[in-house]
Amino acid sequence: MTTDARTAIVTGASGGIGEAITAMLLEEGFAVTMLGRDADKLTAIAGEFETGRLACAAGSITDDGYLDEVVARHTERFGALDLLVNNAGVSGHRRIGELDAALVDEQLAVNLRAVIMLTNKCLPLLRSAVAKRGSAQIVNTASNAGKRGEATLASYSATKAGVVGFTEALHDELASEGIKATAICPGLVDTPMADEYRSGGAVEMISPRDVAETVRLTTRLSRGCIVPEIILLRPTEWIAPSEVR
Ligand SMILES: NC(=O)c1ccc[n+]([C@@H]2O[C@H](COP(=O)([O-])OP(=O)(O)OC[C@H]3O[C@@H](n4cnc5c(N)ncnc54)[C@H](OP(=O)(O)O)[C@@H]3O)[C@@H](O)[C@H]2O)c1
Repeated sequence: MTTDARTAIVTGASGGIGEAITAMLLEEGFAVTMLGRDADKLTAIAGEFETGRLACAAGSITDDGYLDEVVARHTERFGALDLLVNNAGVSGHRRIGELDAALVDEQLAVNLRAVIMLTNKCLPLLRSAVAKRGSAQIVNTASNAGKRGEATLASYSATKAGVVGFTEALHDELASEGIKATAICPGLVDTPMADEYRSGGAVEMISPRDVAETVRLTTRLSRGCIVPEIILLRPTEWIAPSEVR
């Protein structure tokens, strides 16, 4: 399929925030390639959207060969990439002293290394979109834990702070040539990743759709307007203790 529609690649699209971002992008008229590990989940979601503007490619973003294949396929079909959404991520709670290498390595590989490598590989496609339409975009799902490290999430927080730093560097290096970079830093979002927080009863959370709406905003701005970072908080997050208020 070739198309004149703007095109996007969304990682972590097999559920949660990535699925909501994909739905929003389809509403905005994008042709979207959804990435995720679970082929069955991707196929089921794609079936619900019922559009020809959707493609799926299952695999692990920690595998450089898979990333090459995704980029090659996107190049063949569209020749340009208007929006890369680096959204896939893994969490996992551990106290300092209880961290194990397998968890740290997975968080670094999925949350940070893959974000850097896929962006690196997509740069020629993003530049083609700039040549075609004047601008292109990279949106990275970080976390508010990447702005303010959290207890039991030390290694996760470190990877997300890395995503924030990487996004700032992208802005510094690429903004003047028309490639915008945005880091999204949400608090607790109502997805399977937040399940561990539900054991004590209902918890008010940000909806995946809220996150998607902030991405929608960035896709509608003119070339001259860049949103480098968006922080989304729940009503109880980052509140100073009552004795200092
Ligand atoms: N939920 C929150 O409270 C929250 C808050 C702040 C930031 N975030 C960030 O938001 C992003 C999306 O999270 P979510 O809440 O939507 O979580 P989720 O529902 O658990 O989704 C995670 C997604 O990442 C994909 N993924 C994980 N490891 C992968 C790998 N090795 N290769 C390819 N895909 C992989 C999963 O694919 P499969 O399902 O196919 O395995 C899934 O699509 C993450 O970066 C997360 O850190 C979440």
